[in-house]
Amino acid sequence: MVEWLKNAIFYEIYPQSFLDSDGDGIGDFNGMIEKLDYIKGLGCNAIWMNPCYDSPFKDAGYDVRDYLKVAERYGTEEDLCRLFEEVHARDMHILLDLVPGHTSEEHPWFIQSSKRESNEYSGRYIWTDSWFQRAEGFPYIAGECERNGAYILNYFKCQPALNYGFLEPKESWQKPIDHPDCAATRAAMKDIMCYWLAKGCDGFRVDMADSLVKNDDEEKSGTCRVWRDIISGVQEQYPDVALVSEWNNPASAIGMAGFQMDFFLDWFGNGYNFLMRDYDDSGRDDSFFKKDSKRSILDFLDEYLPKYEAVKDKGLYCLITGNHDMIRAAYNLEERELKLAYAFLFTMPGAPFLYYGDEIGMHYQHLPCKEGGYTRTGSRTPMQWDNGINCGFSAADSKMLYLPVEQGENIPTVAGQEERADSLLHMVRDILAIRRNHAAFQDHANLEIVCASGKQRSFAYQRGSLLMMCNPSGQEEEIDLSGMAKKTWNKLYEIGTGTWREDACVLGEQSFVIFSCEPDCI
Ligand code: NOJ
Repeated sequence: MVEWLKNAIFYEIYPQSFLDSDGDGIGDFNGMIEKLDYIKGLGCNAIWMNPCYDSPFKDAGYDVRDYLKVAERYGTEEDLCRLFEEVHARDMHILLDLVPGHTSEEHPWFIQSSKRESNEYSGRYIWTDSWFQRAEGFPYIAGECERNGAYILNYFKCQPALNYGFLEPKESWQKPIDHPDCAATRAAMKDIMCYWLAKGCDGFRVDMADSLVKNDDEEKSGTCRVWRDIISGVQEQYPDVALVSEWNNPASAIGMAGFQMDFFLDWFGNGYNFLMRDYDDSGRDDSFFKKDSKRSILDFLDEYLPKYEAVKDKGLYCLITGNHDMIRAAYNLEERELKLAYAFLFTMPGAPFLYYGDEIGMHYQHLPCKEGGYTRTGSRTPMQWDNGINCGFSAADSKMLYLPVEQGENIPTVAGQEERADSLLHMVRDILAIRRNHAAFQDHANLEIVCASGKQRSFAYQRGSLLMMCNPSGQEEEIDLSGMAKKTWNKLYEIGTGTWREDACVLGEQSFVIFSCEPDCI
């Protein structure tokens, strides 16, 4: 495990929308530099920045046209390198976003690959042998290029899939993983990673990391093989490269592919979804952290625990407040509900990820699609810093903004929440300070469920000398702790109330408490 990851708390920045330093209506590297002290002051010591490379932006930069060139709208490569330096000067770290599964259709590799004459890049993407041969079972495009073939897509129409091969090729055009064309794709990806590591980034969040090998098996053993090769190659030069996969299967990502971290992502009907986003258009909302929900924490734990256990000695299974693909947590959760949810997420194992603006409960906005965002667009609006022009995001005319800032009297802003002692922002700072200062939270391998049942909403869990208890419901609830060894527990942190009564703890409505049985402050 890379040493700094043991105590990492990440802040995700969507560069378009964080801070515009030059008044062109879009966020930039220099704006991020201006706000590094704010991020550090929040308690985060690491950053993941969404793609910042040259792109036609049909998918907000996940359609890369040139991996080695920064998008002009964010600044220059010198600005980015200065961002790396300023991050490190504050004893922080930064991950870029690597998009290995596909490029933009405007990438020079693809332009070469789509030519009629065979060339160095003909095998960089996955093409069938002729224009009328379908790529059965895959999304594909035919009839657009002079090359006599159809090509496979990885996501949107603008994102042709790079060729890492097929686990078991079935057609003449399907190449095995060890084919020279697939080896060349892997080598190209290693070079890109090393390029940015040499410039000073600390690693990568890896987009659709599970998508590389086609016709893969359930545990993605082909894709894992490819990653082992790429990662070990990069580690030869950069042994401390930090990697988090967008995979949602830590047993494969961490256990087999070689990533140090994987996310528990929001997929409809999964354990993470049940915590904060279990709602639909009919008005039903049974998210666990809703005060009136009927759910028990088991709906989360039943899925989380086996996955966590499978990798707990090898890497970090990470929990997130949200990300650029999800509806913002404040869409359905009230401030108190958000506080309980964050207190839980930030005291669990794994490196926590805080999505920009979630620390002030920024709202989801209903907006038309921007850069392929569709329903995700409303979670990508400008950061609300203060009540100045464009909420302090940009000095540009409001019509020029990347996305509109939220309008209204009482919209959440950083400045506004600084002034309110019981704000979400202060709560986030307080809980992250506790996380940073206690050894028990830094030991990623330590979690014991003390009380969790289908019969009550409240639950308790222990990490080393720290005991956390949460009651998300609107009624007082008692947690039976008679099974625990007798110890003196001192209250360290409290939202609402938690009171010991002999062998039990009584939690007031919507409460979260942390008790400590020994001084383990570091
Ligand atoms: C996952 C990214 O998070 C998302 O924003 C993007 O659209 C797809 N991958 C395609 O790269």
